[in-house]
Amino acid sequence: MDIYVDSANLNEIKAAKELGLCDGVTTNPTLIAKEGGSFTEILKKICEVVSGPVHAEVLSLDYAGILSEGRELAKIAENIVVKIPMLEAGLKAAKTLKEEGIPTNITLIFSAAQAILAAKAGATYICPFLGRLDDIGHDGLQLLGQIRAILDNNPDLDTQIIAASIRTPLHMVELSSMGVDILTAPEKVLKQMQKHPLTDAGIAQFLVDAKKFAH
Ligand code: E4P
Repeated sequence: MDIYVDSANLNEIKAAKELGLCDGVTTNPTLIAKEGGSFTEILKKICEVVSGPVHAEVLSLDYAGILSEGRELAKIAENIVVKIPMLEAGLKAAKTLKEEGIPTNITLIFSAAQAILAAKAGATYICPFLGRLDDIGHDGLQLLGQIRAILDNNPDLDTQIIAASIRTPLHMVELSSMGVDILTAPEKVLKQMQKHPLTDAGIAQFLVDAKKFAH
């Protein structure tokens, strides 16, 4: 199981890397916009510090535009994965880019039906969004379980699941239990995972007791 950092912030990415929590990075236009500066420069800098896949999203919505942007993104670094929105033109472009040897991620997946189409198009990765489903009262984890079962029952569908839009440590635990290939998490969730009040209380008590013996 791989853990990616869902961020375009270099400091967050470096900090996660130091903890062994940066098998790759996912970005999207919103995350890039938060950083300010040039899209290409931000991606170049991320690729300098991350050896695993770095996912960069196209903005075009038509076949020719997606292809042209995807090819340009792939030139930034060897580890770039072209992220493409779940659209008919995106499915077609993913198929063409696969034939050209360029890895793709079909993103903004919100149903098992979309996941099947993306896998059939030859996407290297498919990216279902949990949190955004939970936000509108649907069960994101249930969708992930369903997609996992579809891929397990159809080994000819050669794609990896990246669980995205992760909001809580519980998401991370449940997704790990169901064998999702990759979890991409924001820094906030990775930090929350470290914490437990009993750990803090245990450390505090040990420090109190340590004052009672000679060193
Ligand atoms: C990752 O690839 C997605 O872009 C990201 O996880 C979306 O998360 P959000 O729903 O918190 O914006």
